[in-house]
Amino acid sequence: MKEYLHTPVLAEEVITYLKCQRGGIFVDATIGEGGHTLEILRASRQNKVIGIDWDQEILERTRKRVNTYSDRVTLIHENFTHLPQVLRTLGVEQVDGLLFDVGVSSVHFMEEKRGFSLHRNGPLDMRMDTRRKLTAYDIVNHFPLDKLATILRRYGEERWATRIAKVIEKERQQKDIRTTGELAQIVSRSIPRQHHSRSIHPATKTFLALRITVNEELKNLEDILYEAPLLLKRGGRIGCISFHSLEDRIVKETFKRRGSACVCPPSLPQCICGGKEQVLKIITKRPLTPRPEELKNNPRARSAKFRVAERV
Ligand SMILES: C[S@@+](CC[C@H](N)C(=O)[O-])C[C@H]1O[C@@H](n2cnc3c(N)ncnc32)[C@H](O)[C@@H]1O
Repeated sequence: MKEYLHTPVLAEEVITYLKCQRGGIFVDATIGEGGHTLEILRASRQNKVIGIDWDQEILERTRKRVNTYSDRVTLIHENFTHLPQVLRTLGVEQVDGLLFDVGVSSVHFMEEKRGFSLHRNGPLDMRMDTRRKLTAYDIVNHFPLDKLATILRRYGEERWATRIAKVIEKERQQKDIRTTGELAQIVSRSIPRQHHSRSIHPATKTFLALRITVNEELKNLEDILYEAPLLLKRGGRIGCISFHSLEDRIVKETFKRRGSACVCPPSLPQCICGGKEQVLKIITKRPLTPRPEELKNNPRARSAKFRVAERV
């Protein structure tokens, strides 16, 4: 197994703000390579962690890494949107803390065969859960032009979305676009040279948009953040680390909705609960961000934002 470890972001803040020193049951809903989980386990001998990841390959790496704590860790291969069912199956009613560190792991970028990386040539895949059907290849080669452009604009916030989609359509009429390398080149060519950024690859936003679409990342986050507070004991805390503005907006808005007296699902046109029940109290009015010392050691953390709320 190749050895590359994802450095946990805002680890000290996670331990402090989720009150991990007090001993309890914590859910690491995006356990990844287990960086935060190891910190939680070390914070108190009384701590137990239920670790969830949608990626079986990553979970197997983590199983080896947390082996010494196997009596205090339960690993589950599942979409975190199924957290209520997971806890029910384990016979756990409510927990002391919930952590979401959303997005992808460094492993996803390092393994070319997973097709997430702009810089390592691999098949256009990008699925976290390889049991699912839709891949980046399907979107790039088969989605209609306008749908493709919408995805790039909405999830990548890409100003050249239509132009990129048109060039992709032209290319795919000649032959299928099969690899990350081919796509990165096509996108680069679609954006006028004078608009290429010096610091990021011109296809970064396109790759982000495809990854979000393949894995329904924003929908998953929205769904679970609304439900998850009900799985906390009173005084238990939920924390979410996000890496781009679309995610952070969802965290902020969902905590705010759960922090107000109305608990109706957002799909309802008007309040039917009578507005009696406030579920969360917001702990971080503004998101916490990494301190300069952390950024020096882990520049990948630069866009991280951590928001925390407490069950009332
Ligand atoms: C940023 S990494 C987590 C890193 C981890 N906190 C650590 O310190 O090692 C995010 C992880 O969440 C997983 N993930 C993303 N969406 C998920 C979902 N809907 N359900 C479960 N896991 C998910 C990814 O597979 C990835 O391993």
